[in-house]
Amino acid sequence: MKASEEKRFLKLVRELNPEKKLEQMKAFIQHGSVTTYDHVLDVARLSYRINKAFRISARERELVRGALLHDYFLYDWHHWDGPLHGPYHPKAALKNAKRDFDLTKREENIIRSHMWPLTPLHIPKTREAVIVCIADKICSARETLFARKKRKKPKTHGYVRIRHGKT
Ligand SMILES: [Fe+2]
Ligand SMILES: [Fe+2]
Repeated sequence: MKASEEKRFLKLVRELNPEKKLEQMKAFIQHGSVTTYDHVLDVARLSYRINKAFRISARERELVRGALLHDYFLYDWHHWDGPLHGPYHPKAALKNAKRDFDLTKREENIIRSHMWPLTPLHIPKTREAVIVCIADKICSARETLFARKKRKKPKTHGYVRIRHGKT
């Protein structure tokens, strides 16, 4: 991303987050060792880049705000005994986001529909929601794959160390 685009992106992030409410998401792990906060920043940045790269002309401010809040569910889903996290968490994220921020209808749809087609009744209705829905899946797949690779590494090192010890 060009320096000027990165600057504009970070400005949009700062504007949404004057009270640092988004940082509550630093307390929760999304996938592997990635916090929900890091995840939503990645999704917002990728959404912003997709919009630029494909000249989609989505509304940048709403795109970034919706992406930053799409996983604002604020609980540890690894130790969660409520409703099934996958289809449930967009509803929880929207409820929290509406409590803490003034949202547009477009931003609400981005949050509520980001897990589509897992939530068949909540369809991405705008180009902003479609972009975030896709960017979220790309980032989630990347985090999960990266976490698997990281888990495999120590085993290999352990094996090498034992062999050296024996010879
Ligand atoms: Fe999500
Ligand atoms: Fe997400």
